Amino acid sequence: MKELRVGLLGIGTVGGGTYTVISRNQADIARRIGGKISIVQVADRNLELARQVTGGQVAVTDDAFAVVNNPDVDVVVELIGGYTVAKELVLKAIANGKHVVTANKALLAVHGNEIFKAAADKGVIVAFEAAVAGGIPIIKALREGLSANRIEWVAGIINGTTNFILTEMRDKGLAFADVLREAQRLGYAEADPTFDVEGIDAAHKLTIMASIAFGMPVQFEQAYTEGITSLTTKDIQYAEELGYRIKLLGISKKTEAGVELRVHPTLIPEKRLIANVDGAMNAVVVKGDAVGPTLYYGAGAGAEPTASAVVADLVDIARLQGTTAEQRVAYLGYQLDQQQVLPI
Ligand code: HSE
Repeated sequence: MKELRVGLLGIGTVGGGTYTVISRNQADIARRIGGKISIVQVADRNLELARQVTGGQVAVTDDAFAVVNNPDVDVVVELIGGYTVAKELVLKAIANGKHVVTANKALLAVHGNEIFKAAADKGVIVAFEAAVAGGIPIIKALREGLSANRIEWVAGIINGTTNFILTEMRDKGLAFADVLREAQRLGYAEADPTFDVEGIDAAHKLTIMASIAFGMPVQFEQAYTEGITSLTTKDIQYAEELGYRIKLLGISKKTEAGVELRVHPTLIPEKRLIANVDGAMNAVVVKGDAVGPTLYYGAGAGAEPTASAVVADLVDIARLQGTTAEQRVAYLGYQLDQQQVLPI
């Protein structure tokens, strides 16, 4: 039986969920891949937490580079977030010939081109299903299920925190700040919640989706980004009276002139399916030329939904073991054209 040996960086919300899902569903996963996924080392600043979550079953360290340099690790799962140390760790893992799974949308939206090039040069996989829309397999849908199509546009609710805030403001008339605190307590919000409420997190995710949908480099700096901080409970109630819901949408559309990339609050007629996506749930609509519009719905944040995507990436990597570097690079679509994002 083949074994995929995993080093986990970060055992917080998503890291803990990943540990739980792999442990609980080990037998089903093993049957699906004809092998075993084993977490062989965990790094976290909080050693006590790492020992507690893993029940003393796994080697723990507070030195993330020890995991990245561990010859017994095949795949590094990066769940620490941020741009600086995370970037160093990911590039070092790639240089060491390890595959990488990451939920770090900020890192990929800003430094993805450099990271993908390094991975393609080395013939290793960088997988990031968990970086976009939590548990919804949207990257897989774009890359595999819709691979026959020319994608025309992608639009979605891709930030759970803001959708939760807008829903609670509408349903309970609560103030913005109070709901944000609750979203933080539930583990939906980013370490810096400005990223959520200013639309930056949604723009990170939109940038990554658009790069896969339209075969272009990540161009986060070109995205138009507007959040929900200036919306009041009254705005939401007035929209409701007129038969609309306000949702923070990420929209990317291919036009003759280039690709649009924008995040902003949008009025949506209340009868539309996407207008009824509430709480921390996410939904993405993708329009392909052959298939027409398709809708993907699910939990966009939280421990186990996000872990579901992390573990699915590990399953993919296990299935790609034994392929050539060229096959892996082709599968991941790193050969990206230069398409221009339109200024808005
Ligand atoms: N802060 C993010 C959200 C977490 O609220 O959607 C999941 O990416």
